Parts: sequence; C-alpha cells; structure tokens
Amino acid sequence: MMKRFNYLFILLIFLLSSCASNKVQEKETLKSALDGKFYIGAALNADQIEGKDEAGLRVLKEQFNSIVAENCMKSVNIHPEEGKFDFTLPDKFVELGEANNMFIIGHTLIWHSQLAEWFCVDEQGNNVTPEVLKERMKNHIHTIVSRYKGRIKGWDVVNEAILDNGEWRQSKFYEILGEEFMELAFQYAHEADPDAELYYNDYNEWHAGKREAIVKMIQSFKEKGIRMDAIGMQGHIGMEYPSLEEYEASILAFSNAGVKVMITELDLSALPTPDRNVGAAVEASFEYKKEINPYPDGLPEEVSKKWNDRMASFFQLFLKHQDKVKRVTMWGVADGDSWKNDWPVKGRTDYPLLFDRNHQPKEVVQTIKNLALRN
Ligand code: XIL
Repeated sequence: MMKRFNYLFILLIFLLSSCASNKVQEKETLKSALDGKFYIGAALNADQIEGKDEAGLRVLKEQFNSIVAENCMKSVNIHPEEGKFDFTLPDKFVELGEANNMFIIGHTLIWHSQLAEWFCVDEQGNNVTPEVLKERMKNHIHTIVSRYKGRIKGWDVVNEAILDNGEWRQSKFYEILGEEFMELAFQYAHEADPDAELYYNDYNEWHAGKREAIVKMIQSFKEKGIRMDAIGMQGHIGMEYPSLEEYEASILAFSNAGVKVMITELDLSALPTPDRNVGAAVEASFEYKKEINPYPDGLPEEVSKKWNDRMASFFQLFLKHQDKVKRVTMWGVADGDSWKNDWPVKGRTDYPLLFDRNHQPKEVVQTIKNLALRN
C-alpha cells in the first residue's frame, strides 16, 4: 500500500515538473533560449527599418537580438554617386538596433554586386587606376564605418570574392588591384573603427576549393597581422544541399584556422532548385515554370515536416559548435519577406524562414528552444 502510494507520488511530481518545464519553454523566446550560446539575428528590409511592417517588427523585437541591413548599406544604395552618401535608412536601421539593445551588423562594404556604377570606372567607363580605386575604397569605408563607430559592432567587410573552386572572382576590384584589395579593405575598416569586428562573408563555403582558399586567406591575414575576426557563412541552403557533414567541415576548418564563425544569411528553400551550383549568386536568373513553383498555396504536411526537421538539424549543428559559432542570422523575419520568393526564379512562393507569412512561428522554433535549453 505504502509502496503504491510512493509510486503515485513520484509519478505526480514527474507530471507536474514536466508540465512546468513545457510552460517555461513556451514562455522562452528564441533569444532567451539561445542566450549565452549565440546571437540570433535577422536581416531587415526597408519597410521594417521605416516602421511600416508592424507584424514583422513585433516578431523581431520579441525573438531576435541582432540585426543586419538586407540592402540599404550596399554601395549602390548608400553611396550612389561619388561623394554623395544616402544615410537615411542606414541611420534609422542603427537607431532601431540601439533602441532594442541589438548586436548591429553592417553589410557590406566591398562587393562586386549591387555595386555603385561609378565606383570602379572613370567618366568614360574605363577602369580607374589602382591609386584612384584605393582612394575611393578608403574614402567609402572610412566615411561609412566611422559614422557608426562603436555602434555597428561587426562589418561584412568583403563579400563573395572567392569562387567555389578557390580561385579569385574576376571582379573589378580584383581586376584593378589584384589580391591586395582584400587586405586593403580590412585595413581601412580597422583604421575607421579599431574596436569593430571584421568579417569575410561568402556563400557555398562548404565547397572544398572555396573552404581551402578561405583557410589560406585566414592564415595569411594572421601572418601579416591584419584583423579578421570571423568568417561569415551565408547559408542559403536547399532541401538537398549541402550535407550537414560538408557544412560542419567548414565550421571546423575556419575555427581551426583561428577565427570565429557567423552564420550570416540563413534561409532554407523548400522549392526545387533549377541549379544546385548557383549558390547565392544574385545575378543568376531562371525562367519561371509552374513545375518549379509547386506549393503556391501552402506546404503539404510531409514537405513541411521535412523542412522543419532539416532546419532543426542545422540548429543542432550550430549548438554543437556554440564555442565557435557566435551568431546565426536569418535572411529575413518572415516567409513573405524573403528574397527567395524572387530568386533565382521570379514570382515563386517559398518557405525559407522561421516565421510563416502570418508571422507565426513554425514548428522548428519550439524545437530550437528545446534544443537550446538542453545543449
Ligand atoms: C539580396 C537581397 O536579399 C535582395 O533583396 C537583393 O535584391 C539582392 O541581394 N548574398 C548577400 C546578400 O550577401 O546581400 C544578398 O541579398 C543575398 C546573397
């Protein structure tokens, strides 16, 4: 009799405590559950920065503790003509981050894409000399970085300079200055804000060639004493690629070379990819076909389950390496905002982010919180 009472008592305590712990987990937000592990961030579009997307901002403030600008700090927008800067949105973006106590990231100083037309050429459209380009880069970087000195905590200094096979991308910067453009960019950024963290950011870094080239670059920066704090792994991933092992190999390789890792632009497309080697090359574009837009009215249950499981497995990987991964940033707040709806095929309906089109958390959000509280 007494024994049975003991069993019942233990069962009751167990049930009560598991209810209580579920309640705690429901109350947790992404940022509270991940506190002390890594920042959880989101890229912001113009509507969010201007306060027009109220639902998106509600989710942002509740769940995220880091932000990056999706477009407004790229040279075509922030420095459209030589000497003419437009700081309207970038100023608001930084104010929003400060008002909400967020870790603010600047994206991106030197990139071949969304590049201001004037940047690398003269009035006739010919490449400028190395001296002129150095001066322009220096002025661009000094002006922007020093404006937000101490407020923007980390910069994507150079974006996408290396190809999947490890060779240099033949950008205007490379054409005119050779490899030196990379080091110069980091030096100029460091001069403008010696306390800011500086990152090299790219996609497809799970390709062995790109991984090795980046490791060499980290080593060479270390030898020369040039500051580089982390490698940004964009993470525009699909249902079939990359494998977790490939992704993990790059986290380990960069960390072993002596820098931190930031997952900077995470989204997981639920749609078929027209070309798995496209990476995140923004200039790529494929013709729209109905067959490659299979879920215009919502994800079928089994696809949604696969999507949630795959996203969860990536977060599990990040948590496993929480000593190396310092931030995970989603490339947007909710599915409706995502660039993946229009890239690499215009006019599709994709489901790549943690919050759905109605700003409701997907199943994976609770899974991430549970994983975070256990790991
Ligand atoms: C994308 C934006 O999300 C789109 O709105 C824009 O039209 C093109 O650029 N790699 C990057 C990001 O570093 O800046 C890109 O952002 C996506 C790929």
